[in-house]
Amino acid sequence: MEKLVISLFCFTLCSFMISTTARTIDSNTFSSKSASASPASNFTHVCDSSRFSALGLEMSKFAFCDSTLPFEVRVKDLVDMMTLKEKTDQLGNKAFGVPRIGLPKYEWWSEALHGVSNTGPGTFFDDVIPGATSFPPVILTAASFNESLWKKIGQVVSTEARAMYNLGRAGLTYWSPNINVVRDPRWGRIIETPGEDPFVVGTYASNYVRGLQDVEGTENMTDLNSRPLKVSACCKHYAAYDMEDWNGVDRYHFDARVSEQDMVETFLRPFEMCVKDGDVSSVMCSFNSVDGLPTCADSRLLKHTIRGEWNLHGYIVSDCDSIDVIVKDQKWLGDTSEDAVAHVLKAGLDLDCGEYYTNFTEPAAKQGKVREEDIDKSLKYLYTVLMRLGYFDGSPSLKFLGKNDICSKEHIELAAEAAKEGIVLLKNNETLPLDPSKFRTLAVVGPHANATSAMIGNYAGIPCQYTSPIDGFAKYGKVIYEMGCGDVFCKNETLIFPAMRAAKKADATVILVGLDLAIEAETRDRKDLLLPGYQTQLIKQVTKASKGPVILVIMTAGCVDISFAKEDENTKAILWAGFPGEEGGHAIADVIFGKYNPGGRLPLTWHEANYVDMLPMTSMALRPIDSLGYPGRTYKFFNGSTVYPFGFGLSYTQFNYTLASSQRSIHINLTKFQHCRDLVYDSDAYKPPCPALLTSDIECNKYNFELEIEVLNVGHRDGSEVVLVYTKAPDGISEAPAKQLIGFKRVFVKAGKKETVNFVFNACKGLGIVDYKAYQLLPFGQHTIMVGDGAISYPVQVSF
Ligand SMILES: *[C@@H]1O[C@H](CO)[C@@H](O)[C@H](O)[C@H]1NC(C)=O
Ligand SMILES: *[C@@H]1O[C@H](CO)[C@@H](O)[C@H](O)[C@H]1NC(C)=O
Ligand SMILES: *[C@@H]1O[C@H](CO)[C@@H](O)[C@H](O)[C@H]1NC(C)=O
Ligand SMILES: *[C@@H]1O[C@H](CO)[C@@H](O)[C@H](O)[C@H]1NC(C)=O
Ligand SMILES: *[C@@H]1O[C@H](CO)[C@@H](O)[C@H](O)[C@H]1NC(C)=O
Ligand SMILES: *[C@@H]1O[C@H](CO)[C@@H](O)[C@H](O)[C@H]1NC(C)=O
Ligand SMILES: *[C@@H]1O[C@H](CO)[C@@H](O)[C@H](O)[C@H]1NC(C)=O
Ligand SMILES: *[C@@H]1O[C@H](CO)[C@@H](O)[C@H](O)[C@H]1NC(C)=O
Ligand SMILES: *[C@@H]1O[C@H](CO)[C@@H](O)[C@H](O)[C@H]1NC(C)=O
Ligand SMILES: *[C@@H]1O[C@H](CO)[C@@H](O)[C@H](O)[C@H]1NC(C)=O
Repeated sequence: MEKLVISLFCFTLCSFMISTTARTIDSNTFSSKSASASPASNFTHVCDSSRFSALGLEMSKFAFCDSTLPFEVRVKDLVDMMTLKEKTDQLGNKAFGVPRIGLPKYEWWSEALHGVSNTGPGTFFDDVIPGATSFPPVILTAASFNESLWKKIGQVVSTEARAMYNLGRAGLTYWSPNINVVRDPRWGRIIETPGEDPFVVGTYASNYVRGLQDVEGTENMTDLNSRPLKVSACCKHYAAYDMEDWNGVDRYHFDARVSEQDMVETFLRPFEMCVKDGDVSSVMCSFNSVDGLPTCADSRLLKHTIRGEWNLHGYIVSDCDSIDVIVKDQKWLGDTSEDAVAHVLKAGLDLDCGEYYTNFTEPAAKQGKVREEDIDKSLKYLYTVLMRLGYFDGSPSLKFLGKNDICSKEHIELAAEAAKEGIVLLKNNETLPLDPSKFRTLAVVGPHANATSAMIGNYAGIPCQYTSPIDGFAKYGKVIYEMGCGDVFCKNETLIFPAMRAAKKADATVILVGLDLAIEAETRDRKDLLLPGYQTQLIKQVTKASKGPVILVIMTAGCVDISFAKEDENTKAILWAGFPGEEGGHAIADVIFGKYNPGGRLPLTWHEANYVDMLPMTSMALRPIDSLGYPGRTYKFFNGSTVYPFGFGLSYTQFNYTLASSQRSIHINLTKFQHCRDLVYDSDAYKPPCPALLTSDIECNKYNFELEIEVLNVGHRDGSEVVLVYTKAPDGISEAPAKQLIGFKRVFVKAGKKETVNFVFNACKGLGIVDYKAYQLLPFGQHTIMVGDGAISYPVQVSF
C-alpha cells in the first residue's frame, strides 16, 4: 500500500513530495546513461544522428527515425522491433526506454491545470527556471465566461511548458484539465473545475485543450492522427468522478450508481466535447466505479465510447494507481495483479500511471491472459502522440522558446486579467467602485487579507511572484492590515478586536474571508456550506465597528452561505474572487477601485446551508428523488431558493438587451425512414401525436436557428457583459430540465454604446433533450428561448 499511501496524500502534500522527487530526476528525465550519451540539457529529440552515434548506433538503420515515412509506418516499425519485455517496460508513466534501439526513457506525468505545475514528476523548478505563471485556479477563470481567454491561457501555458521542455525541465504530456461536472456543492475539487453546467465545462475544455495543443496553422489538418501538438493535454477524470471522502465513503471505494440519462446528459457530455471539439490527445479514467465496474476496466466507457463513438486521436491513461485501487481497495472480481492488468488492457487502457503495467503485463501475457496485439495497439497510440509532439523529429517552430518566454510581463498581465475577468460582483449597494481620492486609508482585514499561496490553490507550480491583496491595495492608499483570524479555521476570537480597531480608523474596510486547501481539496470534501469558525463573527463585528463602508471579499471555490451579509445593510458590497492566482491582489484592488469593471458570473449555484442536509453526497441523480425527499442538483433541476443562482453577477454599469432578430420555427420534412419517438408527458399535459425525433435520425447541421441581440450599455461606465442563452423544452414533458444553457458570449460595451451579439444554434444541440432511456431527442412543439435572467424570452416552434 505504500505507493497508494503516497498517492492518497500526494495531492495535498505534493509540493513537498514532488520537489524532493524532482531533485532526484533532475539530470535524467529524458535520457538515461544507457539510453543516451547526452545529458538532459542538450537532448533535443530522439532521432538525432549524433545521439545515435554516441550510443554506438547508426540512425539511418532505424525506419522509425525516417521522417519521410508516415507516423503510422514509423510507430509500427518502432513497436515491432521491441521484445515483449521491452514493450511492457514502456507502459507506465515512467517509460524505461529501449537503449538497444536508441529509445530514451520518458516520464509521461506532467500537470498544467492553470499554469505549468510541478505536481507530477515530469516537471520541476530550480535555479534556472524558478517559477512559471500561475493563473487563477479554473473555477474563477470559468466565471469569466470568455472562450478566448480560456484558449489564450492555454496558449501561454503551453508556451511556458515548451520553453521548460526545451531547457530539460518539463515533459510534453500534461494531464490537465479536470473537467468533471460539479454535481454537489460539498465536493473538494470544485477549485479545479469549470463548474456545474456540462456545456460550460465542455466549452472550457475544448478551448483550454486547443490552447495547449494546437500549433498555429495546423489546426485544420485532415489527418488528425498526424496533426502536430504543441503539448499534449488530457481530459480527466472519466467518468462520474466528483466525490473525495464523505461520511465514510472515499473515492477509491465509491461505486457511483448513475442512470444512463445522467451519464449522457451530464457526466459524459464534457468529455465528448473535449474529444470531438477539442481533439484532445488523451483521456484519463478515474478511481471510482460506475455501476459496479471500475471505470478503467470498463470497455464500454473506454473502447466503445471514447475510441468507437468519439474517435479519440490519442491515448487513454489511468489515474495514478488506479490499477492498485482495483486490486487492493475495490478487490474487483478478486483480481490478481495479472488479472487486473489484463482486464484494463482489454478495456482499452493504454498507459498506467503507476507500476502495474510495467510489473505485471509481461507475466500476464505469459499466463495467457493478454494478447500481445493489444499491447502493440496501445504502444502505437502512445508513440503517435510523441511523434506529433516532435519528440522524435524536433519541433522547428517551437525550439526557440526559452527562459524569456516564462513569466514574461505579458504572461503575468494575463494572469491579472484572468482574475479581473472572473471576479463576480454579488452585491453593490451604491458603494463601489471606491474613489481613491476619497478613500485614502483602508482597513484590509481577514484571513485572506495577505493571501499568497492560497490564491494559487492546488495543481500549482511555483509562481513568478505574488501580489497579495494588501500589496494590491497599497497601490491605491494607506493600508492598515489585520488578520482577524489566525487562519481560515478561525478557531477563536482573539484577533477580531485588532481588526475592529483597524476598521474604526479607516475610510473604508475590506474584509477578505473564505476557505483554502485545508478545507476544500483533493481527498477532502466539505461537511457544510458555512464560513468556518469565527469568520462570520469577524465579519459581523468588524462591520459594526467600521467607520467607512464595508466590502466583503470571498475567496472560495465552492459556495458559502453568506445570506447574513447579503441582507445586512452595513455590508455595502460583496465580491467573489474564487482563488485569483498569483496576481490576485492586483485584480481585487483594481475591481474595488473601479480600474476594472467586473463582469464575471457564478459558474455554480450558491446554495443555502441547509441544502446539504437534504441529500447525501453519494446520491448521483441530478433530478429530484421525491420518494426520498432529495432535491434536484444544479440550476437545471433544483427549484428551491438559493443564496445566488448560477449565472449571477453584477456590474458597475447597466445593460439592456433588445432582440434584433430571431428565427422562430423549425420544420423538418419527415422521410419514410424517420420514425416518431415517444416521450413521457405529465398526465395533465397535451401530448402531440409525434412527440419527438431521434437526433441521430436528423441531419442536424441543416437545421440551424439564429438569434441576434443588441446589448446596450445604458450606464455610465464601460463594461463587459456575459450574454447567456438558455432553452426550455415544450411544457408538459416529464422531468425535462427547468432550462439549459446552450450558448454564451462575453462582450465589451462602451458606456452609452451598443454591440450586436450573434448566435447560431444547431437545432439538435440547442433544443435536444435526453430522455430517461438516454435517447437524445428533438421534441415536437413550442420550445422557449431565454436570454439572461429572462429579460428576453420567446418561443421557437419545432414541427415535423
Ligand atoms: C552535449 O553538451 C555537452 C556539453 O556542452 C557536449 O560536450 C556534448 O557533445 C553535447 N552532446 C550532444 C549530443 O550534442
Ligand atoms: C480552421 O477552421 C476553423 C473553422 O472552420 C476556422 O475558423 C479557422 O480559421 C481555420 N484555421 C486555419 C488555420 O485555417
Ligand atoms: C514493481 O516492481 C518494482 C521493482 O521490483 C518494485 O519496487 C515495485 O514495488 C513494484 N510495484 C508494484 C505496484 O508492484
Ligand atoms: C504576507 O505574507 C507573506 C508570505 O507569507 C509574508 O512574507 C509577509 O510578511 C506577510 N505580510 C505581512 C504584512 O504580514
Ligand atoms: C487563538 O488562535 C490563534 C491563531 O490560530 C492561536 O495562536 C492562539 O493560541 C489561540 N488562542 C487561544 C486562547 O486559544
Ligand atoms: C442598501 O443601502 C440602503 C441605504 O443605506 C439601506 O437602507 C438598505 O437596507 C441597503 N440594502 C441592503 C440589501 O443592504
Ligand atoms: C420543486 O421540486 C420538488 C421536488 O421534486 C417538487 O416536489 C416541487 O413540486 C417543485 N416545486 C415547484 C414550484 O415546481
Ligand atoms: C433598460 O431596461 C429597463 C428595464 O426594462 C428600462 O426600465 C429602462 O428604461 C431601459 N433603459 C434604456 C436606456 O433603454
Ligand atoms: C419541406 O417540404 C416543403 C414542402 O414540400 C418544402 O417547401 C420545403 O423546402 C422542405 N424543407 C426542407 C428543409 O427540405
Ligand atoms: C476576453 O478575453 C480576451 C483575452 O484575454 C480579452 O482580450 C477580451 O477583452 C475579453 N473579452 C471581454 C469582453 O472581456
